Amino acid sequence: MASLFRLKPIHAAAEQPHGHQLARTLSWYHLVALGVGAIVGTGILTLIGVGVDRAGPAVILSFVVAGAICACAALAYAELATSIPASGSAYTYSYVALGEIVAWVVGWSLLAEYTLVVATVAVGWSGYATPFLLGLGVPPELTHGPQMVAGQVAAWGVNVPALFVVWLVAGLLILGTRESATLNAILVVVKLVALAVFVAVALPYFDAANFDPFAPFGYAKHASGGVERGMMAAAAIIFFAFYGFDAISTAAEEARNPGRDLAIGIVGSMVACVAIYMIVALTAVGALHYSRFADSPEPLALILREIGQPGVAKFLALSAIVALPTVILGFLFGQSRIFFVMARDGLLPKSLAKVSRRGSPVRITLFTAAIVSFFAAFLPIDEIAALANAGTLTAFAAVGLCLLVLRRRAPELARPFRTPAAWVVGLGAIFGCLYLFLSLPTKTQLWFGCWNLLGLVVYFAYARRNAAKGDA
Ligand code: ALA
Repeated sequence: MASLFRLKPIHAAAEQPHGHQLARTLSWYHLVALGVGAIVGTGILTLIGVGVDRAGPAVILSFVVAGAICACAALAYAELATSIPASGSAYTYSYVALGEIVAWVVGWSLLAEYTLVVATVAVGWSGYATPFLLGLGVPPELTHGPQMVAGQVAAWGVNVPALFVVWLVAGLLILGTRESATLNAILVVVKLVALAVFVAVALPYFDAANFDPFAPFGYAKHASGGVERGMMAAAAIIFFAFYGFDAISTAAEEARNPGRDLAIGIVGSMVACVAIYMIVALTAVGALHYSRFADSPEPLALILREIGQPGVAKFLALSAIVALPTVILGFLFGQSRIFFVMARDGLLPKSLAKVSRRGSPVRITLFTAAIVSFFAAFLPIDEIAALANAGTLTAFAAVGLCLLVLRRRAPELARPFRTPAAWVVGLGAIFGCLYLFLSLPTKTQLWFGCWNLLGLVVYFAYARRNAAKGDA
């Protein structure tokens, strides 16, 4: 029984066996770019359409609620990432603070999160690319997965563009971490310029009448028209837009100066993104009545077309096509690192944790891309995003708990970054994430429960024995 709650000592990366060490190639600006690159994406570009469908203009409040909860999680991450600078993110912190079985549940949830985020963003990318592909004569059934209406398949299809973009980014990552991070920094600029242009062009069309009625679906989650709606139901989806800063903490063993650079990367990218989102969301809802872009696969481009700016809409769509892959890159990178550390700990097959001569874990990247492909090709975006959120919420709540446990149990631990108001931050992350989890669609909660049951079967049948053997 005690071994279930075994704690992992804080190993310096240098103590890892040869052939299982990652190369230290990233500086703070690479990390901020990795953060903004992973945060700004399908959430603001596509899920804002799902958000207004669930909440109406009150989606603005959904952004505020989800942003505040993520800010707590980001501060907790920054403290933990700098005091435990090892790859593996929330999984590693839970192993150090809460014990093996909790770490397993968190790691298993993170595997779902990262896989599903990559799939969600690939489907979001496809939404912006599809109008161009249809123009080139690509058949529509090769641009989306099966489409459901009232629980029945209304049209079959395979989302080929989503598959394409996943494998493109996986190929880049295999070439090497540093090359990917530099390209990432350039693409982040493209993405931010596109959003700035959107605001500059759409803001003059701002009309306060578009905010009326402000909360047509109320506040708490409730069933309405076949889906679950309300400001909190939208917040539970919009939450997707804010994470990504956690991907930075998975790069801890690749940062040149983790103590300083990780805190700058995590807090800096989070603050920048909250500001950007509030401006973009207010502009979008103010420029066009929400009912006209609810559930659109490319809402920001649609808004621009509807206000009579088709040229700018094209520019925005092209920028999204060029730059959205940064999110895929950030998460595919993070996914492979979490897999890597779990395998190194013996919880997953060790052979997966080998790195190539260039210092990147090739096998895991290929394996992850293969799994992502299934979700990207066949599933609708709102369902994959909600499931990704369930995994992330579990991880963020665990990180809030780790922060509080380590403050009590290891007060002397060196903390290059100490979060202010630790109790408010920790409890805010724990209870905020719990409330958002309860606001997710009931179906998502059930699927997530099944995923974790499967995880526990794998743990007791394989991982537990193997992790213990690794220690012998
Ligand atoms: N925050 C990232 C996005 O919105 C996952 O795409």
